[in-house]
Amino acid sequence: MERLQKVIANSGYCSRRKAEELILQGSVSVNGQTVLELGTKVNGSDTIEINGQMLNTNNDKVYYLLNKPRGVISSVSDEKGRKTVVDLIETDKRIYPIGRLDYDTTGLIILTNDGELANKLMHPSNKIPKTYLAKLAGIIDKDAIEKLKKGVVVEGRKVKIVDFKVKKKDLQKEATYISITIIEGRNHIVKNLFKELGYLVDKLTRTNYDFLEIGNLGSGDYRELSIKEVKKLYSK
Ligand code: URA
Repeated sequence: MERLQKVIANSGYCSRRKAEELILQGSVSVNGQTVLELGTKVNGSDTIEINGQMLNTNNDKVYYLLNKPRGVISSVSDEKGRKTVVDLIETDKRIYPIGRLDYDTTGLIILTNDGELANKLMHPSNKIPKTYLAKLAGIIDKDAIEKLKKGVVVEGRKVKIVDFKVKKKDLQKEATYISITIIEGRNHIVKNLFKELGYLVDKLTRTNYDFLEIGNLGSGDYRELSIKEVKKLYSK
């Protein structure tokens, strides 16, 4: 038996806090009865409905690591009909991405139907390092390098930069390739960080998500995570 809000969150429907709100506002029923108590316990055989829609509490968990191509949206569906990361994966499970990458950003993104892991990894207290390879318009100068060493403030908050490395300065194309590892969940954070330093990010790829590496996963390709990898993510 588990608490109702936990079961709802684990299904991936929403966060536990949102589930609590839904219960309190009378949107949730168990076996046809509206439930208003947050402490209510349910088991796998109970039918949970949210606003009349049956909740999928299917325990068949799947985990995919995708190398997202450019021009694909990091969500389950798109009102403009654009291709989403979910469209790229062949599965009959209702998966969704953990976090997001911009439409024009490429690289690693995890997709799953495991709401518990998704909520855990997306929680702001979770300090997962992510590495990006950015192509900057222009040649990075000493001043910007010093600022990166000291830490850069974006929208009033300092970005936690774990590491960075200038990979290449292409003087002919006037571009800098820089790899940067940060602990951050804010949207557009890498672009905004370099914008703060006076550089536009022309191309951005997420090459590492914690211990997971892009390796030879081609653009648009994906693989399943091993049980060991999933356990490791759970231990974060
Ligand atoms: N930072 C960005 O600016 N964009 C992303 O897609 C990810 C991190």
